[in-house]
Amino acid sequence: MTTTCTPVDTERSVLYVSNSPDQKLADFLAGSGWQAVHAKSTAIAERMLERGNIKVGLVELPAECTSQHLSALASCMRRVETNWVAQIAPGQAENELVSRFILDYCFDFVTRPWLNDRLVFALGHAHGLSSLRQAPVTPEPSLGRHGMVGQCEAMQQLYRRIDKCSATDAPVFVAGESGTGKELTARAIHERSPRAGRTFVAINCAAIPPSLLQAELFGHERGAFTGALQRKIGRIESAHEGTLFLDEIGDMPHECQAVLLRFLQEGTIERLGGNGPIKVDVRVISATHVDLDKAVEDGRFRSDLYHRLCVLRLVEPPLRERGGDIKLLANYALSMYRQDGARKLRGLSSDAIVAMSNYPWPGNVRELINCVRRAVVMSEGRFITASDLGLPETDHGPAVTLAEIRSKAEKDAIENALQRHGYKLSEAAAELGISRATLYRLMHANRLHQEPAPASRTSNGSGGADSDDEAERQTPSMV
Ligand SMILES: Nc1ncnc2c1ncn2[C@@H]1O[C@H](COP(=O)(O)OP(=O)(O)OP(=O)(O)O)[C@@H](O)[C@H]1O
Ligand SMILES: [Mg+2]
Repeated sequence: MTTTCTPVDTERSVLYVSNSPDQKLADFLAGSGWQAVHAKSTAIAERMLERGNIKVGLVELPAECTSQHLSALASCMRRVETNWVAQIAPGQAENELVSRFILDYCFDFVTRPWLNDRLVFALGHAHGLSSLRQAPVTPEPSLGRHGMVGQCEAMQQLYRRIDKCSATDAPVFVAGESGTGKELTARAIHERSPRAGRTFVAINCAAIPPSLLQAELFGHERGAFTGALQRKIGRIESAHEGTLFLDEIGDMPHECQAVLLRFLQEGTIERLGGNGPIKVDVRVISATHVDLDKAVEDGRFRSDLYHRLCVLRLVEPPLRERGGDIKLLANYALSMYRQDGARKLRGLSSDAIVAMSNYPWPGNVRELINCVRRAVVMSEGRFITASDLGLPETDHGPAVTLAEIRSKAEKDAIENALQRHGYKLSEAAAELGISRATLYRLMHANRLHQEPAPASRTSNGSGGADSDDEAERQTPSMV
């Protein structure tokens, strides 16, 4: 079994992520024509995935699986190029955390003791589908901006704020629930900034054991500690002149927070075991799905570091608040994974759209994309139906008044009509059976904005005065 971090022959290799590798399994895989490349930690797995285009992964879930463990695994299992098969213990799929993880990140799973044929079939299928997939589909510009899909008001506001953040070098903090697109936003800021030609280095602070995080960030000299056989350049240094994305910063251990603060204040780093500061020019973007204000309040996160990181602050809207974008994103996901299905799919049925609109999407865009991807494989008809999506029945929450229901329906209908007609007010008004003036009044009442035509948007982010200015006056740290 290969255990190094060197590039691997990706054609028939399977990345085997396990704390305690099973040699018999590796031998069996080798006998079945697979080269098992072992990674004993998620950090190693992440690096291997960065180096080679690995199509299949096999991940062993430990019997006592915590949410921290799963989130560390998730961080290296997000790439769409690799299809993952999970190995689990009997009964483990009944654990809600585990089943959600499998549904979100894995193509298939096998339960111990598995049948060898079943495992080989799952790996072969995962490999076959991954090979069929072409280069990732870049969303059409008409679907959104910055490589993101979304046309709702909240996303328009996010795009404008990304433009503004790109024009400066100040640290940006991106908040938002899991799977809302925080990393996508960080990359978009980098790609539109003057640093675009330089590297974008991402590090997931939750995926690296606390004892190793400092060495990973700052690097070390040869002999700095037992096992430091050669000099290692840290992630901060390798982002010199580029952008450093500190993901899941809320999980950074306290001792590491102090050293990071020093770097942010002084613009220098010191490698472990090094003998002097090194000047680095790095723009920092950070993100977390935890409530950082609460973490500061509870003393888990240093307030001085918080203020250094959160000079500019962006908030990703949760998917359940994006109205018609759910349908847009579902169709985008379908276009990405269409070829995974056995039959030619025409699209999503209207009951599927309704089911998706009623579901609260706790895993946000990632969950929606994976849900459509699964349905593509499982569906048996020409259209993906609500039952193909397998979404749980939703609890509709506290009772709402008829007036609230009417008002929400009105807002959704207007927003959808505007999106369908590219924000041409006369056409949207005609479809809704109202005058242009009434539409304008209702948009105002519902706080919906008239979307400028894409051509009128400037690429330097100077989109003119917008509704953000109000937010800016109210919340100084908001961009
Ligand atoms: N607006 C969008 N349009 C298209 N794809 C999106 C959008 N938002 C998110 N995605 C996709 O959803 C997945 C999750 O996005 P991303 O990793 O940026 O989220 P995140 O907020 O960083 O998640 P986490 O909190 O779990 O780290 C990715 O595959 C990303 O490409
Ligand atoms: Mg992320």
